[in-house]
Amino acid sequence: YQYVDIGLRFTMIMVHKEVGISMRIFNVIFFSFSEKLLVLTVATEETDGFLRFMRSADYFNYTVKVLGMGEAWKGGDVGRSIGGGQKVRLLKNAMEALADQEDLVVLSVDSYDLIFAGGPEEILRKFQQANHKVLFAAEGLVWPDKQLADKYPLVRTGKRYLNSGGIIGYAPYINRIVSQWNLHDNDDDQLFYTKIYLDPLQRESLNMTLDHKCQIFQNLNGAVDEVLLKFGTDRVRVRNTAYDSLPVVVHGNGNTKMYLNYLANYVPNAWNYEHGCSHCDDDVVDFSQLKVGEYPNVLVGVFIEQPTPFLPEFFQRLLTLDYPKDKLKLFVHNNEVYHEKHIQRFWEENRNVFNSFKVVGPEENLSQGEARNMAMDLCRQDATCDYYFSIDSDVMLTNRQTLKLLIEQNRKIIGPLVTRHGKLWSNFWGALSLDGYYARSEDYVDIVQRKRVGVWNIPYMAHVYLVKGSALRNELKERNYFVLEKLDPDMALCRNAREMGVFMYITNRHEFGRLISTANYNISHYNNDLWQIFENPVDWKEKYIHSNYTRIFTENYLEQPCPDVFWFPVFSEKACDELVEEMEHYGSWSGGKHQDKRIAGGYETVPTDDIHMKQIGFEKEWLHFIREFISPVTLKVFSGYYTKGYAIMNFVVKYTPERQAYLRPHHDSSTFTINIALNNKGIDFQGGGCRFHRYNCTIESPRKGWSFMHPGRLTHLHEGLPTTGGTRYIAVSFIDP
Ligand SMILES: *[C@@H]1O[C@H](CO)[C@@H](O)[C@H](O)[C@H]1NC(C)=O
Ligand SMILES: *[C@@H]1O[C@H](CO)[C@@H](O)[C@H](O)[C@H]1NC(C)=O
Ligand SMILES: *[C@@H]1O[C@H](CO)[C@@H](O)[C@H](O)[C@H]1NC(C)=O
Ligand SMILES: *[C@@H]1O[C@H](CO)[C@@H](O)[C@H](O)[C@H]1NC(C)=O
Ligand SMILES: *[C@@H]1O[C@H](CO)[C@@H](O)[C@H](O)[C@H]1NC(C)=O
Ligand SMILES: *[C@@H]1O[C@H](CO)[C@@H](O)[C@H](O)[C@H]1NC(C)=O
Repeated sequence: YQYVDIGLRFTMIMVHKEVGISMRIFNVIFFSFSEKLLVLTVATEETDGFLRFMRSADYFNYTVKVLGMGEAWKGGDVGRSIGGGQKVRLLKNAMEALADQEDLVVLSVDSYDLIFAGGPEEILRKFQQANHKVLFAAEGLVWPDKQLADKYPLVRTGKRYLNSGGIIGYAPYINRIVSQWNLHDNDDDQLFYTKIYLDPLQRESLNMTLDHKCQIFQNLNGAVDEVLLKFGTDRVRVRNTAYDSLPVVVHGNGNTKMYLNYLANYVPNAWNYEHGCSHCDDDVVDFSQLKVGEYPNVLVGVFIEQPTPFLPEFFQRLLTLDYPKDKLKLFVHNNEVYHEKHIQRFWEENRNVFNSFKVVGPEENLSQGEARNMAMDLCRQDATCDYYFSIDSDVMLTNRQTLKLLIEQNRKIIGPLVTRHGKLWSNFWGALSLDGYYARSEDYVDIVQRKRVGVWNIPYMAHVYLVKGSALRNELKERNYFVLEKLDPDMALCRNAREMGVFMYITNRHEFGRLISTANYNISHYNNDLWQIFENPVDWKEKYIHSNYTRIFTENYLEQPCPDVFWFPVFSEKACDELVEEMEHYGSWSGGKHQDKRIAGGYETVPTDDIHMKQIGFEKEWLHFIREFISPVTLKVFSGYYTKGYAIMNFVVKYTPERQAYLRPHHDSSTFTINIALNNKGIDFQGGGCRFHRYNCTIESPRKGWSFMHPGRLTHLHEGLPTTGGTRYIAVSFIDP
């Protein structure tokens, strides 16, 4: 083997300017190598795709020489039209010095949209087996000149047409090809190689052929269906199922870049079943090295584009993020008059907590795209803005570390995985359909369910993501990313990012939170979240169920103050307050009369001053609450009794000395009754309580949010004791009448 000295000292230090941290991205030094393979690639910029290419090359210890770095690109937009001549010019220049190295094999490949799936030994072996001096990549589609199709030699099986994204050959032969270049930088490289190849004399004298059966080169354009991932213990490869080959160079040519991104989430060693993610901890920002005062500055853009349940809770979660608040600037776009009161309250309490706090309200009449552009631009134009964190009001971040965890990953664009509770619905797409909408990738479900954990390059994300300020001032410096044709703003952003070659990642390395449903959110009630028990059960439970409720089952956390009268926590303070508010807002208390049109028969022997759940349209929700949260307690304390959770009489009672202060002894028309105290004795009212006659047992101090549960008939004759001051509220249900 010949020693090739081409000065491959490759050291790069990237300095993160705004944050002031130096990060060594990579530092690879090749002193010498035993292989006689040299990889040449043209790259004028260190795009995400280029860095990925270099990672895969380093992994296999390829010797790579990069041509043209830092040069202006004049080769046209090769993604969409012809061009690429600049690559040939640079290769021609580089080959002049190598022209007489007869044993040197040169591999010329693209780098922005290409990765290695195997090592140099394998390429050399396969190249020898091909028994030609020059081998071009092949593909099934003819480009750029379809007229030339007939001139290609026929092949019985395999790809017929030349693709110039991959060329391998002995240095003198490659030199003889590229030295023929005398065209412009924006002329087409593929056409140039094609014409040489199609010339029978040259094909013979230069001993050229195509890699018809993808032994070395896999072009994905037109071949996505042929290609599968093949998981090994250490490495993941790509298998071409049409030719049963394991290609070494995988090229996302044409519009298959997204598919290459998917493959490169695994190949060559990014993720596998044995070791999980192997690059997730590369190049991370180390917060432990930072003083709190040195934390990056983040502009947080909050978007309330439709009525959203649990908005006060959303703001609370923002407030409890583990991040110094003086490093956060808040921008809120609120498109809903309904939410102005929530924002007003949050603003009054917290306006001085954040570094700054700006609200753009519905009166500005901004479209969603305009609002998102405005917020992103605030970060872009502020050189001290290190990150832009965009979050929609339907994202419940339950992980207080979210912002830090995202910054740590050190990507240009990264979102945390959030999903709709119990559903496969999430904030990213693993693939796109041909028309740019959702398509399910093979790994989508595994990522959503966290069966595969890592940081994933994906084509679309929405709802919540972090963007580097430096990227906004460089690759993403256009100012209008959210408005594009008739696309949704997030689809527009993602398409722009893809077109700028900026990778978007989603991380599911941690649980971050969930997406709540904004569908069917009826805002015509007073406290609308009470109605969310069906649509957003997790958030409903968190807001309205007592935080010690589950301890009933885990620690027997309940009491029995009188025989067969059980007493347990069920409602949160908020549930009690909001239910009372809702009833007072409705306001039509019955007055405690015997004549009652609301009930069958129209006559109530022991009437209370009350409002039925049905009257406020809360019956369905209330019965669901009974089935979800009361039935399990019933089963626990009256074992063997399975309640149907059925009740006709569900109501809130109001006791005041002025109207009705007490209730005379009576039985309930129920198998069992629940009676939930909705406010506090001694604070909201005096007196009150309940007495069970058979046992001569009185409970004098009801606890707010706690429920009694007792049999309704025969044994449990009871009375409501006089409320002597203030107003007492209880919620009552006669269950299984
Ligand atoms: C690359 O080189 C390093 C250091 O010599 C070696 O440890 C590693 O196994 C090589 N990688 C491959 C894929 O051969
Ligand atoms: C191409 O070169 C190989 C040796 O590398 C030789 O065996 C073969 O015959 C040549 N093919 C043609 C068509 O010249
Ligand atoms: C808000 O903007 C929309 C579209 O730009 C327009 O049709 C509408 O009239 C505007 N409404 C107000 C109140 O300005
Ligand atoms: C919203 O609630 C109100 C009051 O209960 C009711 O009249 C209305 O039909 C509801 N709207 C929808 C769309 O369900
Ligand atoms: C739950 O119980 C603990 C004591 O066991 C108590 O300190 C805490 O205040 C209770 N939570 C609520 C919301 O009452
Ligand atoms: C009921 O209990 C009270 C006090 O606990 C006691 O004074 C009273 O005598 C009892 N009445 C009956 C009928 O046992």
